[in-house]
Amino acid sequence: MATVLSGIQPSGDLHLGNYLGAIRNWVADQYVHDAVYCVVDLHALTLDIDPAELRSRTHQTAVDLLAAGLDPERCTLFVQSHVPEHPRLTWLLECTATMGELGRMVAFKDKSAGRDSVRAGLFTYPVLQAADILLYDADRVPVGDDQRQHIELTRQLAERFNSRYGATFVVPEASVPTVGARVMDLQQPERKMSKSVSSPLGTVLLFDTPEDLSRKVRRAVTDSDGDLRYDPVAKPGLANLLELLAVATDRTPDLVADGYLRYGDLKKDLAEALVELLRPVRQRRSELVGDPGAVTALLAIGAEKAHAVAAETYRRAADAIGLLPPG
Ligand code: AMP
Ligand code: TRP
Repeated sequence: MATVLSGIQPSGDLHLGNYLGAIRNWVADQYVHDAVYCVVDLHALTLDIDPAELRSRTHQTAVDLLAAGLDPERCTLFVQSHVPEHPRLTWLLECTATMGELGRMVAFKDKSAGRDSVRAGLFTYPVLQAADILLYDADRVPVGDDQRQHIELTRQLAERFNSRYGATFVVPEASVPTVGARVMDLQQPERKMSKSVSSPLGTVLLFDTPEDLSRKVRRAVTDSDGDLRYDPVAKPGLANLLELLAVATDRTPDLVADGYLRYGDLKKDLAEALVELLRPVRQRRSELVGDPGAVTALLAIGAEKAHAVAAETYRRAADAIGLLPPG
């Protein structure tokens, strides 16, 4: 059975991009693969974050993933900082990566642009991500389009380590969905929907009320020529809506476009389809928030399962690179 691994930052409420680009596929993968998912709280330390907020968001992100359909009986769900091998392997991989390749990471350039004080951790962020992946011998990494470059770096680090020190790591592949991999902001369709930078009106949260969700879809920016066709370059706003309705109803964007003459009708159907798609997720979440202790207990079991695998891989890597075993 193939192993899949993915991670998500506890940096705020989940949005439609997270769900369609990544989490929906995590849910599907847990039924057919050995699936490992982590809430990457150490990655969140690369930007300003209030300690109390980090703690509560980490818990909440786990709740939201369970609400989205992750089943702890079928996958391993844990918090990154609960498994100490993540930072330990990161060091070995930081001594494998070069400054040059980390400096080329687009996510680093974006997040550091315009800041006069950039944390060293923001620069080495993709190495910690590589450790997340390599510790579990993952074959596939289901992510949105924005993560391709990080997975490519992970492959290079694994190959370099293997060729220097002998076969140690499985070389993973990114798994990016064909539709939904890049959900755009509803107000600024040239920008991807994102927790941190988007306008509130442009970002559909997984737990928006049906009224808020419908309002955001209704007010989505399109264009004024009224020609309803799928053209991501000339008509990015409309294309985004067509793609969303396509994933929600399992069709292609072109086929969806064929069914409409008016933007308003498309928006109405899209809002309804999204409300329906997210109804079970909202329902499960309201059940889970009532029992925070149960979620904490599930995370402890997840960490234990993850640790058993990670410890073994770390030992293999430490041994290969020549660290003296402790006793
Ligand atoms: P993040 O919220 O940055 O931790 O991302 C969690 C997952 O959601 C990653 O796999 C991202 O690639 C994916 N993702 C984030 N934003 C989008 C988006 N706008 N469209 C599609 N996937 C996304
Ligand atoms: N960097 C990823 C993001 O911002 C999150 C992440 C951390 C991740 N570790 C990972 C994704 C391991 C896949 C695999 O979305």
